[in-house]
Amino acid sequence: MVQARGAWLLAGLLGRGHAGNPIMLPSLGIADPHAHVWPADPDTVFVYATHDCSPSGRGNCTASRGLGFRMDDWPKQIGVVSGPTARGPFSDPIGKALVPEGLVPSYSRDPCVFREGDDYYLIWGTFSYYVAKLDGSLAALAEAPRPVVIRNQEHRDDKPFVHRANGLYYLSWGCFYAVSNSSVYGPYDYVGSFIDAATLENTSFASGGGTADRHGSFFAFHNQTYFACNDRSHGGGSGYRNTIVNYVHYAANGSIAPLRIDEVGVGAFDVAASPRVEAENYFSASGAAAKRETAAGFAVDVGPGAALAYNAVRNVPPGATLRLVGAGDAVFEVAADGAEIGTCGVGAPCGPLPAGDVAVLAVAAVRGAGTLDALEII
Ligand SMILES: *[C@@H]1O[C@H](CO)[C@@H](O)[C@H](O)[C@H]1NC(C)=O
Ligand SMILES: *[C@@H]1O[C@H](CO)[C@@H](O)[C@H](O)[C@H]1NC(C)=O
Ligand SMILES: *[C@@H]1O[C@H](CO)[C@@H](O)[C@H](O)[C@H]1NC(C)=O
Ligand SMILES: *[C@@H]1O[C@H](CO)[C@@H](O)[C@H](O)[C@H]1NC(C)=O
Ligand SMILES: *[C@@H]1O[C@H](CO)[C@@H](O)[C@H](O)[C@H]1NC(C)=O
Repeated sequence: MVQARGAWLLAGLLGRGHAGNPIMLPSLGIADPHAHVWPADPDTVFVYATHDCSPSGRGNCTASRGLGFRMDDWPKQIGVVSGPTARGPFSDPIGKALVPEGLVPSYSRDPCVFREGDDYYLIWGTFSYYVAKLDGSLAALAEAPRPVVIRNQEHRDDKPFVHRANGLYYLSWGCFYAVSNSSVYGPYDYVGSFIDAATLENTSFASGGGTADRHGSFFAFHNQTYFACNDRSHGGGSGYRNTIVNYVHYAANGSIAPLRIDEVGVGAFDVAASPRVEAENYFSASGAAAKRETAAGFAVDVGPGAALAYNAVRNVPPGATLRLVGAGDAVFEVAADGAEIGTCGVGAPCGPLPAGDVAVLAVAAVRGAGTLDALEII
C-alpha cells in the first residue's frame, strides 16, 4: 500500500448510514480525497485525505497533523508510508522522499498509484504530469519518470489521477480528463470536464467553484463507480474544503457523463424530493446486470440472476407502491429490508412498500430479460 502526503482516514463513509453531500466533519475540512476499497474489506470505503483545518486559513493546521509528514501549504516532494492494515499505524519505510524535489520539472505533489495486474505506477505533478513504474517494494521508482503527453489539452490543474474503464485509460486532473487507448503512459487525448458548472446554478453547490479545485479520485464499490472530490460550497470558501461523492456513468463513446451533484449524495434516496430512483444509481449490482447509456440517459440491462440494491430509500409515503420503469419481460422479486414485497414485471404496480425509511430495497431478476430505467415510488 502506498500513500503519500500526510494523510488520515475515514472509514465506512458509504454503506454505514448516510453521509450526504458534502461529507463534513466537525471542525475539519476533507480535501483532495483518495477513496479506496481494499480487497480484504470489500464493504468499506476508506478515504485518505488531507484536511483544511479552519475557515480562517488553509495553513492553520497546527492541531491535528496525521502521520508525522510535514504538511506545508505547497509540498514539493512525495513520501511513502506503509502499514499493516488500511487504518495503519503507518510508518515511513525509507526515511526519505520517494520523489525528491527537482527530480522532474514540476512540483511533485498530488500523487496517485495506478495498479494494472501486478504492476504499480506512480503518477504525479502540478500542471504537467509524470509517470513512473514502482518497483516490487512499492517504495522506490523502477524507472526514470516519463512526462505524460496530453494532446489538445485545455485547462490545467493539480491532482492527476489514472483509472481504467471500458478498456480505456482515464487521466483526470480535477474534473478535467483525457483518455488513452494504449497504456498508462499515454499519449492521452483531451476530452473535457465531467462537471457542468451551469447545472450547479441555483443549488447549494453554486459557490463551490464550478470546475475549479475538484481534486479527487475515482473508485469502484459494489460494482458502482464513484468520483470523490473537493467542494468549496458549504465549509467556508477555498481555504476550507469538504468532499462530495458522486455516481460516475460512462457514455457508450467512453466519455464520462456530467456528474449529478446534490445534497442527497450517493447510497441514499429521498422519495420526498423525487419519487424516481434512477436504476443506474444502485448501491450494489451483481449477476447479469450491466449499466449502459440509452437514448434517455442511463439504464441497467438485466438477465436472470441480476440483483440490484438501493440503500437508504427515505420518506416512503404510507401505502406507496413501486413501479419498475423499463422494457422487456424480466420478472423481479422485490424485497424491502428482507421482507418480500412482490414478484413484478415492468409497468405493473408492486407493493405496498413499508412507509418511512427502507434501509435496503432489493430487486432481483428471476426470469426473462430487459432494461430497468428507474424505480418509481408513488
Ligand atoms: C486557527 O484555528 C484556531 C482554531 O480554530 C483559531 O482559534 C485561530 O484563530 C486560527 N488562527 C488563524 C491564524 O487563523
Ligand atoms: C486509439 O486512439 C487513437 C486516437 O487517440 C485512434 O486514432 C485509434 O483509432 C484508437 N485505436 C483504437 C484501437 O481504438
Ligand atoms: C437559475 O435561476 C434563474 C432565475 O430563476 C434561471 O433563469 C436559471 O435558468 C436557473 N438556472 C438553472 C440551471 O436552473
Ligand atoms: C459522447 O457521448 C456523449 C453522450 O452521449 C455526448 O454528449 C458527447 O458529445 C459524445 N462525444 C463525442 C466526441 O462524440
Ligand atoms: C459484482 O459483480 C460480480 C459479477 O456479477 C459479482 O460476482 C460480485 O459479487 C459483485 N459484487 C458485489 C459487491 O455485488
